[in-house]
Amino acid sequence: MTSGANTGRRKRTAILVSGRGSNMTALLDAAVDPAYPAEIALVVANVAEAPALEKARAAGIEALAVSHRGQGGRQGFEERLDAELRARDIELVCLAGFMRILTPWFVERWHDRLLNIHPALLPAFKGLDTHARALAEGCRLHGATVHYVRAEMDAGPIIAQGAVAVMDGDTPQTLGARVLAVEHAIYPKALALVASDAVEIEGMRVRLKTGDGPAPAALIVPVT
Ligand code: GRF
Repeated sequence: MTSGANTGRRKRTAILVSGRGSNMTALLDAAVDPAYPAEIALVVANVAEAPALEKARAAGIEALAVSHRGQGGRQGFEERLDAELRARDIELVCLAGFMRILTPWFVERWHDRLLNIHPALLPAFKGLDTHARALAEGCRLHGATVHYVRAEMDAGPIIAQGAVAVMDGDTPQTLGARVLAVEHAIYPKALALVASDAVEIEGMRVRLKTGDGPAPAALIVPVT
């Protein structure tokens, strides 16, 4: 997806991961299109064994392991991360299953340039085990959210959301699989909106710069 607001130059984007990297793969796949407004310039994992690193390398992307251990604590780890990003002129950072809580120092340094994907319709179900919790609460709708990162966990202006219906026979696994498909659809769209400067932030609200009236469909992605 491209936007008329795109100024032409692709934004140099890094993806931070800890595990399998299916959202990373969705972003890499989208960015294969030269018209996509972000180029993925770097993948960093805090776990050297993260399968995402090998997948990124196989796609020809520079992929680094930066362990959160042995860096002189949380601040040391984040300073190293920040240095690696800046050394490569990274402009946007996407968290994609990155299982470390970032401190306000890092979050502020990347203010409005740091995105996250969360497997729930925020502000409901911040934190872990979102699918089991949505089932336990009897939700009829569940989904995923891409948002700008703020110091508070799983909070920040919402860029895009996608919903799925909860089925009577759902387990956390079956529901989670449908939500994951939504994640893979909305993350590339949300990054495209940000990378093409198509959105503006006002408090907790994200608006399409060209938007007028009701919530623009580009920010809501009904996949199923
Ligand atoms: C996704 O469900 C994402 O929403 C959450 O962690 C999971 C990562 O999965 N933050 P993957 O590594 O992208 O496959």
